[in-house]
Amino acid sequence: LWLAVGTRRRQPGEPEVENGFIPYLGCALQFGANPLQFLRSRQKKYGHIFTCKIAGQYIHFLCDPFSYHSVIRQGRHLDWRKFHFATSVKAFGHDSFDPRHGHTTENLHQTFLKTLQGEALPSLIESMMGHLQDVMLRSDTLSPSKDRWEVDGIFAFCYKVMFESGYLTLFGKEFGEDKSQARQAAQKALVLNALENFKEFDKIFPALVAGLPIHVFKSAYSARENLAKTMNPEDLSKRENVSDLISMRIILNDSLSTFNDLSKARTHVALLWASQANTLPATFWSLFYMIRSPDALKAAREEVQKILEDAGMTVDPSDPSLNMTRDQLDNMPVLDSIINEAMRLSSASMNVRVAKEDFLLHLDNQEAYRIRKDDVIALYPPMLHYDPEIYEDPYEYKYDRFLDDKGQEKTVFYRGGRRLRYFCMPFGSGVTKCPGRFFAIYEIKQFLSLVLSYFDMELLDPATKVPLLDQSRAGLGILQPTYDVDFRYKLKSDH
Ligand code: HEM
Repeated sequence: LWLAVGTRRRQPGEPEVENGFIPYLGCALQFGANPLQFLRSRQKKYGHIFTCKIAGQYIHFLCDPFSYHSVIRQGRHLDWRKFHFATSVKAFGHDSFDPRHGHTTENLHQTFLKTLQGEALPSLIESMMGHLQDVMLRSDTLSPSKDRWEVDGIFAFCYKVMFESGYLTLFGKEFGEDKSQARQAAQKALVLNALENFKEFDKIFPALVAGLPIHVFKSAYSARENLAKTMNPEDLSKRENVSDLISMRIILNDSLSTFNDLSKARTHVALLWASQANTLPATFWSLFYMIRSPDALKAAREEVQKILEDAGMTVDPSDPSLNMTRDQLDNMPVLDSIINEAMRLSSASMNVRVAKEDFLLHLDNQEAYRIRKDDVIALYPPMLHYDPEIYEDPYEYKYDRFLDDKGQEKTVFYRGGRRLRYFCMPFGSGVTKCPGRFFAIYEIKQFLSLVLSYFDMELLDPATKVPLLDQSRAGLGILQPTYDVDFRYKLKSDH
């Protein structure tokens, strides 16, 4: 009986269904082992759209990039809030942000746009630039020298530098007259602990999204709660230079929600996670591919040098106070291309919408399919990112892939002679597109500009292979490498 209830039969007009061999899990294992290969083989068999049962949920995969728009555009049949709000509640344990559930009247989407985009950006950029240089050169996180190479894993390096800088940029520092070493050390310990807790929690994130309860994972649960403890309203009120994102969160939690203190703290943990979980691996891949490709390294160095020269800035590691305006950062097409190409190869964010009612989904080729209420429709952008008809030699890293003939950003890509509206989607799409994407790109550019300005860097083994992607996170964003890659760096001696 259970099997009969759990298995769907295809109705006329619906996409072909694959129930998989295993009750409940359905195709989850095959999908999980190699999502791209799984989806491509089904696309060959069934065409542009088909339905798979994955962990109890029927998902329609839409594989034709020219039909993406019918899902991405904010149509009346599709709901994005249901899935997104539910996922956040499952993973972080705060009360629901969906106003329909009655815990808050806040329009969270608007809050994100106001605090992460437009006028919010210059102060985020300025703050990040200061923290990055503090962490790289003033604090004891790295302690680089001119005469001695330091060896580190690129992944480890990116995580420590970016996490601390990003954390301080969003959450500020505890204020107080006490500037003693002991006080500084306590502040540092807080961030280092946060990084350890973040990593412990992040490991099981895919399991939480899949619906497993967090209590099953004892150490990850305590890691999440430890993070929440450092973000209770009383502790946050002692911090200064807090970003708009977090200070608005504090105000709106207090004024528009009925959240208790623990729920409030957990909303901050959710933002810490959102701000770091993709940025950290994206920084790793950008730095790794850049160092590995001599042409990329050279072009990037030249671009950064020119920006600094034009602005009359000098690089001085004993007084690390370089500054870059938003305009200058907007004018770095080589770094943009280096980062986009790194994300093309490493991102695997699934774009998901839920059907509000039974409706007909129209594809670009004039076909239409019946979709049932509460079904999930998904786009899997790696199908675009690794499509040889869009990107020549799709498995190869070409740092200038997103540059046009004039060395400016390339935005025109074709498939089968037709121009694509969507070709690179690491940040999702439409109304659920990552609201932090501008800041994310700026902070990675700042990071790259600074390591290029202050350090000489090389791979320990120049012939090192590209590490495989850890597919356990497929669907959730930028994938991590399965192992770290060593490099060495020292302060440049030509200052
Ligand atoms: C959501 C990607 C960095 C804040 C998302 C989503 C993706 C994404 C794919 C979900 C979109 C969807 O479900 O359709 C990335 C990548 C990043 C990055 C690839 C870095 C390379 C950041 C940063 C911040 C941020 C730095 C904040 C400082 C958020 C927030 C959401 C989100 C708040 C939830 C939005 C909502 O549910 O309305 N991001 N992100 N992200 N991201 Fe990012």
